[in-house]
Amino acid sequence: MNLLPTLVVVVAVGLVNLISAQDCNAQEDEYGQGIVIYSQDQLDALTRNCTRLYGDLVVGSNYTGSFIMHNLTNLTSSISVLNSTTGLTSLEAPDLVTIYGAEFTYPSSLQSISLPRLETAVFITIEGRSPITVSIPNLRNVSYLDLSGSSINANLSSLEQITTGSSICGEAGCDKRSSSQMHIDLPALRGAASLSVGGNISSLSLPVLASAGNISQAQTTGYGDYSAGLAVHSSQLLNFSVPALNFLNGTLSLRGAFDSISAPSLKNATGDIALEAWYPLAVNLSSLQVADDITLIGAISSTDFSSLKQVNKFSVDSTRHLNCDKVLPSNASFVHAHCNSAPQKKSALARNIGIGVGVGLGASMLLAVAGICIYRRRQKRTKKRKDKQAVGAGAGEESTHELQPVGREGEEGQGQSRDGSERAGEQAPTTAATQPSAAGVPAEPPPPYSRY
Ligand SMILES: *[C@@H]1O[C@H](CO)[C@@H](O)[C@H](O)[C@H]1NC(C)=O
Ligand SMILES: *[C@@H]1O[C@H](CO)[C@@H](O)[C@H](O)[C@H]1NC(C)=O
Ligand SMILES: *[C@@H]1O[C@H](CO)[C@@H](O)[C@H](O)[C@H]1NC(C)=O
Ligand SMILES: *[C@@H]1O[C@H](CO)[C@@H](O)[C@H](O)[C@H]1NC(C)=O
Ligand SMILES: *[C@@H]1O[C@H](CO)[C@@H](O)[C@H](O)[C@H]1NC(C)=O
Ligand SMILES: *[C@@H]1O[C@H](CO)[C@@H](O)[C@H](O)[C@H]1NC(C)=O
Ligand SMILES: *[C@@H]1O[C@H](CO)[C@@H](O)[C@H](O)[C@H]1NC(C)=O
Ligand SMILES: *[C@@H]1O[C@H](CO)[C@@H](O)[C@H](O)[C@H]1NC(C)=O
Ligand SMILES: *[C@@H]1O[C@H](CO)[C@@H](O)[C@H](O)[C@H]1NC(C)=O
Ligand SMILES: *[C@@H]1O[C@H](CO)[C@@H](O)[C@H](O)[C@H]1NC(C)=O
Ligand SMILES: *[C@@H]1O[C@H](CO)[C@@H](O)[C@H](O)[C@H]1NC(C)=O
Ligand SMILES: *[C@@H]1O[C@H](CO)[C@@H](O)[C@H](O)[C@H]1NC(C)=O
Repeated sequence: MNLLPTLVVVVAVGLVNLISAQDCNAQEDEYGQGIVIYSQDQLDALTRNCTRLYGDLVVGSNYTGSFIMHNLTNLTSSISVLNSTTGLTSLEAPDLVTIYGAEFTYPSSLQSISLPRLETAVFITIEGRSPITVSIPNLRNVSYLDLSGSSINANLSSLEQITTGSSICGEAGCDKRSSSQMHIDLPALRGAASLSVGGNISSLSLPVLASAGNISQAQTTGYGDYSAGLAVHSSQLLNFSVPALNFLNGTLSLRGAFDSISAPSLKNATGDIALEAWYPLAVNLSSLQVADDITLIGAISSTDFSSLKQVNKFSVDSTRHLNCDKVLPSNASFVHAHCNSAPQKKSALARNIGIGVGVGLGASMLLAVAGICIYRRRQKRTKKRKDKQAVGAGAGEESTHELQPVGREGEEGQGQSRDGSERAGEQAPTTAATQPSAAGVPAEPPPPYSRY
């Protein structure tokens, strides 16, 4: 037997392995920022024989043209682009399969980011105001994902898991009105420990999202910045649909203008549902059997909770007329239930909200209008209540009550009430005021995605 061919093969395979797993280092600079790349030639020289790079790469502020990272498959640390890099036009990493992190606070000159083979990342942050195409079509798994800017057109067509937290926001802070419409398409997303989406959303597609708020895989460091579950804040009228959602932990928080909501697979939620409707909404959660707390406020025109068997706290405060006797099925068990709705005739608040949406008032304006109206209503109510109850009646205190459950049993006959074993009227006002926040609906016009 001649061993030579085998030896040759072994040596050849050894060489290929050597090349395909070649490591190199990006030296830290004096600020510990990693290596700053000023030109494609410098980058090519760094990565010529290198597939795994240890250390951070920073695109230098005077970099011009396209930035193409050849050969690298594994970047063990991160790459960053700052918005001062005003000559950068595109960024590509054709071979990159895995990266620890990518932080692109991009300048307006940058029009595309292409990471065609990237499969996993710990964090990806993309933040900017100008239009950009981001293609990461093979990304399957990310721990943190933050896209901030309504002009980001992202292809994340294989993304399956967001294991810690994410936000996709029109503008920084998520609550601001965004000028451009956002189309958010996450066709493969099956699970998200925390996902919050906000802005001028004209379409939101989450066709296979089955699990929201499973934090068992979340990285403990940084998790506290995100709240478990799914939050959608839309300033544009939106049909919200999560056809596959069957696991909900944390909070499903919907806030803004919704034409309809649909969660037909959601039966037993181990979390809360918090909804603030800015536009008349028929709430249909007819599949839901079990939930922790359910809080609905705003222009709730009807509710269907016909399968609900068990809920901890159930609270409805509608600016529309509702039949409060029918909001919960008669066999549902609850610890605390509360319903208040406008009288049959449209209230001033309901009309204002309707008109506001009609003429396209901005989101924050709308909230301000709602806030003022509720404030006025509360002032009126408080005046009436003063004879009955010794409530600390300072002006400051009233404003903290703005969006507390407005109905008190037997109070001014304005709404119909149905109270549970622990009646709302028996609670200290401050406790009542904090309830909506506890369930995830902000108590006043706040940044809706404030990361607590
Ligand atoms: C890359 O490999 C070639 C051939 O093995 C060698 O001549 C060259 O110095 C290497 N370049 C770097 C940057 O390591
Ligand atoms: C690195 O990429 C360059 C450009 O694509 C290519 O010419 C070179 O052969 C690659 N080197 C290795 C070791 O793969
Ligand atoms: C970019 O800046 C670096 C560091 O200041 C400098 O060494 C390099 O020559 C500059 N490149 C160009 C093309 O101006
Ligand atoms: C990338 O490199 C790191 C550090 O050596 C290693 O732990 C990780 O498994 C590598 N990832 C892949 C996909 O090869
Ligand atoms: C870069 O970002 C900072 C902070 O987000 C911002 O103030 C500044 O205007 C931005 N610069 C450019 C060139 O976009
Ligand atoms: C996303 O990218 C993949 C791969 O390039 C492509 O096949 C797919 O059509 C893209 N999806 C969208 C919505 O553009
Ligand atoms: C996500 O990717 C990491 C790194 O490859 C892996 O350890 C982890 O198991 C993956 N998680 C999921 C849910 O796919
Ligand atoms: C949402 O985007 C559309 C189209 O760009 C625009 O007409 C509308 O005013 C935007 N809405 C808000 C609240 O910014
Ligand atoms: C659900 O949330 C609770 C508290 O927020 C947490 O303790 C629990 O681990 C979560 N369950 C899963 C499966 O994530
Ligand atoms: C939560 O995620 C873990 C890890 O992926 C998985 O093992 C577990 O079954 C999930 N729990 C639920 C209730 O989906
Ligand atoms: C929501 O869906 C209904 C029924 O498919 C449709 O008539 C309506 O136009 C949709 N609304 C929006 C805002 O897309
Ligand atoms: C959902 O909750 C109901 C009532 O507690 C219970 O009868 C049913 O078995 C639960 N279903 C699942 C799939 O956990």
